[in-house]
Amino acid sequence: MTSFILRSASPAKTKVDAVVVGVLAGEDGVSLADGAQDVASAYGRKLRPLLASLSIKGSLGETTRIPTAGAINAPVLVLVGLGRTPSTADLRRAAGAAARAVPNAATVALALPTPGAAEVRAVTEGWLLGGYRFTAYQRDTATPTDGPGEVVVLTPAARKQEVVDALARAEVVAQSVADCRTWVNTPPGDLTPPLFAEAVQAATAPLAKGRGKVLTVTVHDEVALAEMGCGGILGVGQGSDAPPRLVEITYAPKGLAKDAPHLALVGKGITFDSGGLTIKPATSMHEMKSDMAGAAAVVQATLAIARLGLPLKVSTFVPMAENMVSGNATRPGDVLRLYGGTTVEILNTDAEGRLVLGDALGRAVEVSPDLVVDVATLTGHMVLALGTQVAGVLGTEETVAQVLAAAEAAGEAMWPMPIPEEMKQRITSSKVADLAQHDWVRWGGGLFAAAFLREFTGGLPWAHLDIAGPAFASGGPSGHVTSGGTGFAVATLVNLADALVAS
Ligand code: BES
Ligand code: ZN
Ligand code: MN
Repeated sequence: MTSFILRSASPAKTKVDAVVVGVLAGEDGVSLADGAQDVASAYGRKLRPLLASLSIKGSLGETTRIPTAGAINAPVLVLVGLGRTPSTADLRRAAGAAARAVPNAATVALALPTPGAAEVRAVTEGWLLGGYRFTAYQRDTATPTDGPGEVVVLTPAARKQEVVDALARAEVVAQSVADCRTWVNTPPGDLTPPLFAEAVQAATAPLAKGRGKVLTVTVHDEVALAEMGCGGILGVGQGSDAPPRLVEITYAPKGLAKDAPHLALVGKGITFDSGGLTIKPATSMHEMKSDMAGAAAVVQATLAIARLGLPLKVSTFVPMAENMVSGNATRPGDVLRLYGGTTVEILNTDAEGRLVLGDALGRAVEVSPDLVVDVATLTGHMVLALGTQVAGVLGTEETVAQVLAAAEAAGEAMWPMPIPEEMKQRITSSKVADLAQHDWVRWGGGLFAAAFLREFTGGLPWAHLDIAGPAFASGGPSGHVTSGGTGFAVATLVNLADALVAS
């Protein structure tokens, strides 16, 4: 466990294993960023030639370690590039890259440009998330995995209450993002729907019992799902030996005002997506262990909101199923009856997310929330449209705008996408059921999926986040985003809850 301390002290005099400073790129060479003045003056005129001979460019996330040989109190100086005019999001990325540059330091001081609460939050989140590693399935390695025991965040605003609060909040959010990543990274055989439901129960347990109880958790098993009429979750899950689940969580803090906002969250929890009979190609099928990233995000966001004690009500719905091939798997041509009675003709068993979400959205609207937000690794179409870093946001106008604003503040890239009128015709094109789950027109498949989901939102304010691209990073780490599960959307959802409380 890393503990964070705020201090307004000189980075040159701070006794730690490593000091991190920012490097700005500029017209006439690089310079040290705000927060590093004392380090710059300790080096004096030697600094410029040193930076030049190391060919440091100051590009965002570039890291260089130099032994200080007594120039400052710490033995190692870490230079991290900030680009030309760093935004708060850039600071988060840079801090993340810096965390990986000194995996062995026991104590670190961050002397980055952190004039206020937003920057302290970004640097803390960035550091914690950039240093995240998933080692549960590896032999013990020589490097410690827990990061430094102590991180000193140097800031002139160390004594301001809002900065103290920002740090505490950043630690809570980063913990939830990290735990979300771990669930996504866990091998799918070890996180089947029953095991995932148990993991959610274990994670929520401390807040779901005793005097401090703020969470209520219900796990519906396959028998309960049949009684409830959740034909989507059951249909998708019926090809797997591991039965499906629906987990429902309510967060209601003590003494909540009657008119407090009520947010409903829904997350796609396909613990593995083989595609079913409409089977996927082999090459990247293993990455479909990440098809429960939406579920992991909404649960972890709910946990963070609860740990922060935010004054609103949150109702969270997590349908969990494994989409597999077997003699009992759903066939193309089958008709499922979703929660509430809508019938759906299956035309592609790989379009399974919308089926489990249809049931869960149907449950969500019944608790009469002020707004519903669903998060899902829903379509490859959205990845084609927006790439792997950006999520698509679709839904009702105001809710989409609220989500985009929350994402901006969280440093998560999201972009609005439309649900054009033609989609209504396409989703009602089945000759045998109320809705067609799919058509074989490729164009606009991500918008079709959102139009399908909209049928289950009961006309409530709603946003759908298609995180198929950014939920999982196939390549190496970049900034605070590490390889594998990214924890995408957790920070945005916490910000959204915050914004709802403030408005
Ligand atoms: N889980 C996938 C979507 C996905 C694709 C997530 C790539 C992450 C990366 C989803 O269940 C799926 O298979 N969608 C189909 C929908 C199609 C059949 C309409 C797809 O995108 O091809
Ligand atoms: Zn899927
Ligand atoms: Mn699929």
